[in-house]
Amino acid sequence: MSEIEERLSELERLGLGRRLRLISGPQGPTVLLEGKPVLLLCSNNYLGLADHPRVREAAADAAMRWGVGAGASRLVSGSMTIHGRLEERLADFKGTEGCLLFGSGYLANLGVIGALAGAGDTVFSDELNHASIIDGCRLSRAAVVVYRHRDVEHLEWSMRRHAGGREGRRLIVSDSVFSMDGDVAPLLELAELAQTYGARTVIDEAHAVGNLGPDGRGAVAEAGLEGEIDVVIGTLGKALGSYGAYACASAEIVRYLINTSRSLIFSTAPPPPAVAGALAALELLRERPHRVARLRSNARALRRALAAEGFPVTESEMHIVPLIVGDERQAMRLCQEAIEGGVFAQAIRPPTVASGSSRLRLTAMASHTASELREAAGLLGRVARRIGLDPESLTAGQVERQAPPRASAGEDFAGEISARRAGAAPFDAESSGAPAGDSAAPFDIERDLSGARAA
Ligand SMILES: Cc1ncc(COP(=O)(O)O)c(C=O)c1O
Repeated sequence: MSEIEERLSELERLGLGRRLRLISGPQGPTVLLEGKPVLLLCSNNYLGLADHPRVREAAADAAMRWGVGAGASRLVSGSMTIHGRLEERLADFKGTEGCLLFGSGYLANLGVIGALAGAGDTVFSDELNHASIIDGCRLSRAAVVVYRHRDVEHLEWSMRRHAGGREGRRLIVSDSVFSMDGDVAPLLELAELAQTYGARTVIDEAHAVGNLGPDGRGAVAEAGLEGEIDVVIGTLGKALGSYGAYACASAEIVRYLINTSRSLIFSTAPPPPAVAGALAALELLRERPHRVARLRSNARALRRALAAEGFPVTESEMHIVPLIVGDERQAMRLCQEAIEGGVFAQAIRPPTVASGSSRLRLTAMASHTASELREAAGLLGRVARRIGLDPESLTAGQVERQAPPRASAGEDFAGEISARRAGAAPFDAESSGAPAGDSAAPFDIERDLSGARAA
């Protein structure tokens, strides 16, 4: 058996095998999955714009006008007018001076973090940040301090601890809406801490645009922080229905990113049809923000119906709804049985989520109907019970668990913090303050495999 075969069979043995499932047609509310019609309950096409006629037409027209590919990095073969146009519109949408397109959200996080932090600098990163942030931290070669999820006291403690005598730059980086749980970062507190401790902030709005904030402008706008965050990253591949990404920032930072961001400099610019599609989607969002209201009301309908089935889901308008099963194989079984019943919600397992927290990550879309979502919740309840999973025994997601964001770090909770610190491992350097490497990657397939080997 080759080493690769061995690793593949080990992944299968751990319930972590992956394969591509074939779907026909666009990312609509229903799709043909391997020939079977199913309700699509796991797409990030949140506003239903990926297959909107105006978005399709804009992409098709752009292909005829500018061609399919951008030819090279914009620094090499020139920046196309359509790139500049989308950047202007996005800067206006996000309330910043400037904007810079990237090939994808993954590339944007790599490029921005790597430009703003390097050897000798320190990045403070939420433990549930997206893998592209984790990889951006790793590649940057900065020291990485991973703070507990949404825990501003832990972040402040870490920043104080890493203040002494260090000359390097400091960066706080966080998802605004966390991709696997759908909860929201305490953005006000992050911005305050950044100011207090002289750090820059990078906030990834991949899952916030289209749902939160006025007209779906995102969590940063909802928190009243437009113009206050150093770099706001977003993707064009989710609510905006296309592909590519952007970093919105001051004109100075944008100029700096153009000069230093490796994933911008060394990668082909986003293709004109994708850029034009995103422009059309952004126009639609601005002209008809009712889609945002529709997404929110669908999220509420889905959550209510799941709660009625006994799942530990609270009433909110967050469109990402995790059903945390725990065991990898059980999550896969629930996913497979749901597909048989006509609902497609992919099971999410390590390394995307922590070992033992495998889940179905449900996502509502504006293009679903409330009755489709209610029926899906009913089916998920029936299937769970049939395979011996009591919906009520599932672990609650972060939205359900989270305390309301704390107003002033370090004051109201001083007693609690010192009590927790007294014997608390979570505040140890080993678990949080170690430089880069593993501390930046809580969920790592290599670690899962070597852990399993050791066991
Ligand atoms: C928070 C977050 N950031 C970035 C990305 C990557 O974006 P893209 O799909 O455009 O590469 C994702 C994708 O899932 C994400 O969830």
